[in-house]
Amino acid sequence: MQTYLIKKSDVAKVLDMESCIESVESAFRLFGHEKFQMPARTFLTIEEYNGDIRSTPAYIPEYPIAGVKANSDHPDNYKLDLPTKIATILLIDPKSGFLIAVVDGTYISNMRTGAAGGIAARYMANKTVNVVGFVGAGKQARALFDALMIVHPEIKKIKVYDIIRKHSELFAKYCTSGHSVEVEIVDETAGAVTGCGIVNTSTSARNPLFNDSIVSPGTHINAIGADTAGRQEMSSSILKKAITVVDDWDKASDFGEINVPFHMGEITRADIQAELGEIIIGEKNGRRSEDDITVFDSVGLAVQDLITAWNVYKRLMENEEYKSKLLDVSFLD
Ligand SMILES: NC(=O)c1ccc[n+]([C@@H]2O[C@H](COP(=O)([O-])OP(=O)(O)OC[C@H]3O[C@@H](n4cnc5c(N)ncnc54)[C@H](O)[C@@H]3O)[C@@H](O)[C@H]2O)c1
Repeated sequence: MQTYLIKKSDVAKVLDMESCIESVESAFRLFGHEKFQMPARTFLTIEEYNGDIRSTPAYIPEYPIAGVKANSDHPDNYKLDLPTKIATILLIDPKSGFLIAVVDGTYISNMRTGAAGGIAARYMANKTVNVVGFVGAGKQARALFDALMIVHPEIKKIKVYDIIRKHSELFAKYCTSGHSVEVEIVDETAGAVTGCGIVNTSTSARNPLFNDSIVSPGTHINAIGADTAGRQEMSSSILKKAITVVDDWDKASDFGEINVPFHMGEITRADIQAELGEIIIGEKNGRRSEDDITVFDSVGLAVQDLITAWNVYKRLMENEEYKSKLLDVSFLD
């Protein structure tokens, strides 16, 4: 039996943001109904190279598919001209344990993270959003922009702040290349927060980027950057004032935006309104009024990676031309 090797360029043939949003929304629905297994992620710290490797397994009986993502985080990788995060997803047949495919997970991780922010904005932001702010203008910001332009096509203006102005400039170019939006590059965080209907934070900050005093009523915040213990982008004052929703309580309280304030005792589980899947399936409410501030704390879930990778695999298999160009090996020979 053959195992397929699916490179980024193969993934990109069949994964656009619209289909990724569909996959990730079905992952949130499964999550809401608890129809999967997703044990705790493991961290392997490699101090001498300032990096870590995380493994995130999942099994979805109704598909049926199982798998695991190995995701490395090496902040010094820019010196090697490599991305900070590099991921590989193994798709495994749950009946036999046979390795169905090895899939590039770096592209999928970026796309599914953007999709999750887009879905959160669909369910939590106000209906009409004209101005969107970005604090941090890297890869996640681009994926978030793509997803937001699908779920809120009425967006007219982008405001961006990055500590490296060149990153803001490249991001501005990215936004205006496919959409008729105006982009304003601002020189401080507040410029990309105050007056925005949606604010996205995707930095590797370890201290709050801003506090509640500069957040306008009605704003929805996608807090994406903190996905490791010790990282934090929001102040506790925002999390307490806002309707705060997480993707997964267990993982968010250990690694997500809420991990630092939770372990410092500044917030408790009672400060968290829901997991996003519960809002999507209608079990809990999110926003109550147009003036509410809402926060989505995204850690990233293995089921999002697994469903997205599985859908990519199936679409490639259905297309004879794409299938014939895939690399394959017989690992068991
Ligand atoms: N929640 C998730 O599922 C998820 C998934 C992937 C990545 N992440 C996290 O998101 C963060 C960003 O990832 P990325 O791939 O976009 O990285 P990136 O390096 O491409 O971009 C990060 C950007 O943030 C900027 N920045 C850093 N500190 C800043 C600050 N204080 N104010 C403004 N800008 C600042 C950097 O200059 C850079 O342009 C990382 O911490 C990563 O671990 C989260």
